[in-house]
Amino acid sequence: MVEKIQWDDRYAIGIERIDAQHRKIIGLINRLVDLSGVTTDSTLIEDTLNEMTIYATEHLDDEERLLERCGYPHLDEHAAAHKEFRKCTALLCYSVVEGRVVVPEEILTFLCHWWSAHILHDDMAYRDHVTTGCGVAAEGLASDGSGSPRR
Ligand SMILES: [Fe+2]
Ligand SMILES: [Fe+2]
Repeated sequence: MVEKIQWDDRYAIGIERIDAQHRKIIGLINRLVDLSGVTTDSTLIEDTLNEMTIYATEHLDDEERLLERCGYPHLDEHAAAHKEFRKCTALLCYSVVEGRVVVPEEILTFLCHWWSAHILHDDMAYRDHVTTGCGVAAEGLASDGSGSPRR
């Protein structure tokens, strides 16, 4: 059984909207882990995987817009890491739909490892820049989904 990601303070970037998105993505991944243990209903797994993929993609776009607005100097590398996730996930979804992945454990392991490592290292790396470097207090970020800090 794949180990679920347990949210704790280590994962908190300190930007409310981003943290909420990360929590939701982790929740969806954990639901996938639960499903894999109790159901052979591939449609249910497929639907949840799709929901996670769509939500995660929206988050990655939102985060990239935020980093762009804040002039984050490592945006290109960060966006490249996101791109890698998008590419792998698209392939994984395709594999599930095609029934090529008999045991979705490799998918779950990939998802858990990718998100855990990405939040703890890559996302945490922009924290100071966004919350202090670009003069935007965490609570001052727009909540309209635009990724635009309020001025
Ligand atoms: Fe990121
Ligand atoms: Fe993120």
